[in-house]
Amino acid sequence: MPDDLRRLPELDESGDEAPSNHSANPHFRQIAEARLGRRGMLMGGIATAIAGFITPARQAAAQAPAASGPAIGFKAIPVSSADSVVVPEGYSVQVIIPQGTPLNGQPWKAPSEMTGAEQAAAIGAHHDGMHFFPIEGREPDQGSSTDGLLVLNHEYVEPRFMHARAAGLSVGSGRMPLVDGKRPDDEALKEINAHGVSIVRITRQANGQWAVVNDPRNRRITGATPMEIAGPARGHALLRTKYSPDGTRTRGTLNNCAHGVTPWNTYLTAEENWAGYFRNLDQANGQPNLPREHRRYGVPANLTRYNWDQAASGADEFIRFNASATGADATQDYRNEPNNFGWIVEINPFDANSTPVKRTALGRFAHEGVVFGPAREGRPVVGYSGDDAVNEYIYKFVSARPFSRATANGSLLDEGTLYVAKFNNDGTGEWLPLVHGQGPLTAANGFRDQGEVLVNTRLAADAVGATKMDRPEWGAVDPRDGRVYFTLTNNTRRTAEQVDAANPRARNQFGQIIRWREQGDDHAATRVAWDLFLIAGPEGDSRLANNATVSADNILACPDGLWFDADGRLWVQTDIGEAEQNRGALAPFGNNAMLCAHPETGEMRRFLTGPTGQEITGVIVTPDKRTMFVNVQHPGATTSAADWAAGRPNSRFPGNNGVPLSATLVITKNDGGIIGS
Ligand code: FEO
Ligand code: CA
Ligand code: CA
Repeated sequence: MPDDLRRLPELDESGDEAPSNHSANPHFRQIAEARLGRRGMLMGGIATAIAGFITPARQAAAQAPAASGPAIGFKAIPVSSADSVVVPEGYSVQVIIPQGTPLNGQPWKAPSEMTGAEQAAAIGAHHDGMHFFPIEGREPDQGSSTDGLLVLNHEYVEPRFMHARAAGLSVGSGRMPLVDGKRPDDEALKEINAHGVSIVRITRQANGQWAVVNDPRNRRITGATPMEIAGPARGHALLRTKYSPDGTRTRGTLNNCAHGVTPWNTYLTAEENWAGYFRNLDQANGQPNLPREHRRYGVPANLTRYNWDQAASGADEFIRFNASATGADATQDYRNEPNNFGWIVEINPFDANSTPVKRTALGRFAHEGVVFGPAREGRPVVGYSGDDAVNEYIYKFVSARPFSRATANGSLLDEGTLYVAKFNNDGTGEWLPLVHGQGPLTAANGFRDQGEVLVNTRLAADAVGATKMDRPEWGAVDPRDGRVYFTLTNNTRRTAEQVDAANPRARNQFGQIIRWREQGDDHAATRVAWDLFLIAGPEGDSRLANNATVSADNILACPDGLWFDADGRLWVQTDIGEAEQNRGALAPFGNNAMLCAHPETGEMRRFLTGPTGQEITGVIVTPDKRTMFVNVQHPGATTSAADWAAGRPNSRFPGNNGVPLSATLVITKNDGGIIGS
């Protein structure tokens, strides 16, 4: 999150939207006091109470079947604050597809020289979640290791790196200044078109280097691409808009953070911090309250993130970001536009003519990403997804219909049960169903149908008593034993009164990783046994799995990206916010990095460090495990407005003395071996 956006009142200091969970779900201290009594709490303290409560979970974890686990064979690299990419001895790095790389064979242009239309045919900004689809297109993770479609998200944009007039202007990393009180249309269009998803065919050349292939499947999905709405909220009154009066279609996907890959080999992109792209002036216009669909999600009441709604032309495609109720009903204005965001979107990367589909059964929130349990014939499909905002929740979707390899498709995601997680302090947990008519989710409580439950997923989760978490980011499922891991990146807003066993630190600057085993190893189960895989932070305020030694080789903070390779190595990527990088309590961790962990021993080694100002996010290997792709997002974002005006961005990644650009790293082992081995 850019520094100057961070200063806006509606945005949180930790890099995302301000907390909007004001529900009264109980916090640990209340539960602990009920169990121990207030005197017990005072005598033993919170830490002792937590240690007591999570012992059963540790026992449960210890009872897990022993596994030999993956080999981790590289020598750890040190923490870095250099403007460079560093990998272990014996590894090499190539940089591909920086923002602006044309997908249609056109000559290269810097983003600042492009038109908005040209950006729609080129790689977007701020690379994030990513998958390599082998070109055969048969099964996820099977097929060619030298030819495939790389599909990646573009989370947001840094306008000053995108527009010619920004050169020499004293601007931070957020909004561009207005011109005559307006945004030039083509600037707004270029920013919208730098969002979304890229689908790009890449191949390994004879010299071992990877290159973009001009292919008819190369495609950009942007913040303006027409999309279908599917699932229980399709056609709901809350989704009806001027663009789609029957509430079945919408335009664009925004703030696409992490991703998912379905068992039927399609790509899912997650809409994370979309609320700030809109504004609602109803309060300023004399309306007493914002609609709850806006308020509970943090739609701001003053300025939007990039001022697209103030484009000079006033064209519909721009002013739709002003979601104030100005017309006679929702089909006459843009009040429901924000309700069309916050979903999981399915894309078939192999069909350039396919229409992306928003799958509403998976709920509406700040979706970080989605990860599936192993697909088993005749069993439901199960996907896990975190809501990345302070004190929000972890969810899972269980399909109503069973998986069949022969017939599976996206319609499996349209019928099923969405659950939200409650992590008890004794190491057990429950999945609470968000089903209209069950428990508190009734018309009397403001939920008239399942569509209303889904559009207001956060409110439904509040009502059933879910556990408020420290910003749930990526999830990953261990391919060997099915345990589910989730990063909880940080939560400096958690108070001492609010700590619980799963979120055990107040003012949590460093984050933790929670994991659980579903009862009976059935991903459709409604009970789990959980523990904390690691507590991140400096020595003395951290704990690795199995009490492995915290050292210079493995200290980390703010885990975000998380992915298991097929051998069971757990790859952990960090996202220390721009305001904290290399400063204060976060200084010992240096630039954002990627580490590799052993799920049983807790052994962990730093594998990659990135350049100045960026975060490392997105990771996948080819089926042979010998080529790894990793994204570098927002290099140079920590450049001050003064340094930018003076022509001194603090990162030059990926090179050529230009402005810093997000790009993809291709990592290989010099001996041709398996990455990480
Ligand atoms: Fe976009 Fe939650 O990281
Ligand atoms: Ca992320
Ligand atoms: Ca993050």
